[in-house]
Amino acid sequence: MTGGAGYIGGHVVDALRRSGRRPVVVDDLSTGRVDRVPGVPLVRLDLAEPAAVAALTDVCTRWEVTAVVHLAARKKVEESVARPRWYHEQNVGGTAHVLAAMAAAGVPHLVFSSSAAVYGWPDTAVVDEDSPAAPMSPYGDTKLQGERLVAAATTAGVRSFCLRYFNVAGAGSPVLRDDEEANLVTTVLGTLARGATPQVNGMDYPTPDGTCVRDLVDVRDVADAHVAALRALGAATGPPRAEVLNVGTGTGASVLEVVRRLCTLDGRDLAVQAGPRRPGDPAAVVAAVDRARARLGWSARHDLDAVLRSAWAAARTGQVSPVR
Ligand SMILES: NC(=O)c1ccc[n+]([C@@H]2O[C@H](COP(=O)([O-])OP(=O)(O)OC[C@H]3O[C@@H](n4cnc5c(N)ncnc54)[C@H](O)[C@@H]3O)[C@@H](O)[C@H]2O)c1
Repeated sequence: MTGGAGYIGGHVVDALRRSGRRPVVVDDLSTGRVDRVPGVPLVRLDLAEPAAVAALTDVCTRWEVTAVVHLAARKKVEESVARPRWYHEQNVGGTAHVLAAMAAAGVPHLVFSSSAAVYGWPDTAVVDEDSPAAPMSPYGDTKLQGERLVAAATTAGVRSFCLRYFNVAGAGSPVLRDDEEANLVTTVLGTLARGATPQVNGMDYPTPDGTCVRDLVDVRDVADAHVAALRALGAATGPPRAEVLNVGTGTGASVLEVVRRLCTLDGRDLAVQAGPRRPGDPAAVVAAVDRARARLGWSARHDLDAVLRSAWAAARTGQVSPVR
């Protein structure tokens, strides 16, 4: 699998091992950490390099790889606005190289990390997989282009799932936690740790409390979705297909509610600083989850409280949420 030393990747590796699989990780360790994947074979490689196809083909052949889970990508929306060409090279180029290596080595199954960012600013709060894809950022665009490359690979015999993750949060253990302040939960936790007041970007949205509504899905559930997807690929018959599935909870939480709960976990009263809306931040995006349930027999098991508790515990106390 690619990107296995990252935040989500570390949890996927853990879930795969517990399901009896033997993952091999390919990662350039740019944002990943070796201590997330102890005892797992790791090949250090930048997927976007021209030489990556030969190196990946070699990995697939040498380790007798039967399926690829492709998570490696750059994921920061604002950075993608500043460096769109680099995001294209890294994310679309990297995916093209993975597919070329799979073709060369004859690997038939792929699970690709996509994102709710492909929906952009949807017309309805709850989005299903047939909702129009209209990314608002170069990052979201690279994910949509990646999905199209994956779909095109069915003609080369590749059967696949593109999993569109919503807002991934939580942690299965302190070492696996997300330590980049690049999303709502980690940013608020970091702000509170510094004794500062969390900023809320936009309090005048047409939502019940005026703040954005998002679908926070537990990273342990996201990891389990990959195990279910690989199982479904292995059991599938007939001509290869490329299917797109939302990976979310189907329940929205407002930004203010998330901040309130994190403040409570931290033993503080709720206090927020009102900031301006961020360009391109949609009011509400929540996953329709019926298709993932039907196709994979998967649905999220952790509720908002469990997600936030596990993130807080991993960041603050080194304790792990007992819920699995
Ligand atoms: N975190 C989220 O909420 C979220 C939501 C939707 C989709 N995703 C997608 O999930 C995937 C994993 O995200 P994450 O949150 O774990 O991020 P992360 O930055 O923690 O993990 C990405 C991993 O990929 C590696 N990597 C990046 N570019 C690489 C390259 N060119 N070659 C080799 N390795 C490379 C990094 O070193 C890291 O280990 C990404 O594809 C991301 O777009 C994440």
